Amino acid sequence: MIVCKTKEELKTRISLWKKEGKTIGFAPTMGYLHSGHISLIEQSKAKADKTIVSLFVNPTQFNDPEDYLKYPLDMEGDLKKCKEAGVDLVFIPTKEVVYPDGTPDLIMKQPALQKNLCGRTRPNHFEGVMLVVSKLFHLLNPDFAFFGLKDYQQFRIIEEMVHILDFPIQVIGVPTLRERDGLAMSSRNVRLTEKERENASLIPRMFTLAGKLLVGGEKNPKVFHEILADFLLSSPEVKIDYIESVDPHTLQEKLTLDGELVLAIAVFLGKTRLIDNQRFSKI
Ligand code: PAJ
Repeated sequence: MIVCKTKEELKTRISLWKKEGKTIGFAPTMGYLHSGHISLIEQSKAKADKTIVSLFVNPTQFNDPEDYLKYPLDMEGDLKKCKEAGVDLVFIPTKEVVYPDGTPDLIMKQPALQKNLCGRTRPNHFEGVMLVVSKLFHLLNPDFAFFGLKDYQQFRIIEEMVHILDFPIQVIGVPTLRERDGLAMSSRNVRLTEKERENASLIPRMFTLAGKLLVGGEKNPKVFHEILADFLLSSPEVKIDYIESVDPHTLQEKLTLDGELVLAIAVFLGKTRLIDNQRFSKI
């Protein structure tokens, strides 16, 4: 496995592969890898000749400086996991390598896709994600890029950015990998106390309840979200950031619960913010 720390090393290696006619699959991450990240790698290995993973905690996408400073790191463990998973190249730049002139004076925005969900409650987050992902796309020149559907809004925003800006890249969404109790795997889960972790299982149970309500004929989003909120708030540890049902393509709020929808939530357990979503189709 090749480890690159600079843009130059990276470019040399990639142009070699391109000359040999190899296709490249790319899974961007912020490290502290878990099985969810590994499933992106597996998909890439199945689809492309060479698989690249980036490990970079991107400062421009954190609206809360404390969240950035507390983001978990385990470079040694991550490199080991990448090697075991059969990754061909890992890119581990510092922030000086990615942003040599400091935070760039460029703002990318997709107002409609960012209007709801995390776009509403995490100002500047997706601007930072689009900035770093487009830089990485230019540096790596991948044929395929893999994004988890757990971060559904991020997936849609990147998919749309690639479409609008004509990046010659196929964006592939990977299903959410979950713990035994259904909690979505996340690098942030390690921050939960034992009690918070126990209460976190309310999230997957809430999605089961949501499915039952929809099958039962619930059409009113307000009533639907109130029942789900009450369920989550049965634990005093849980604080709700948002519960929303949106159209899977436009991410606009559903006014009535029919057709295809993505139910997405963000909750705080103590100081840890967790997000999750599930797609439903209602006939
Ligand atoms: P990070 O949170 O490290 O996630 C990296 C990728 O792994 C994302 O595409 C995310 O959706 C996916 N992922 C996370 N948990 C998952 C799970 N349980 N199952 C399947 N996939 C999962 O998302 C980011 O980093 C950053 O915003 C990034 C795109 C790297 C830009 O900085």
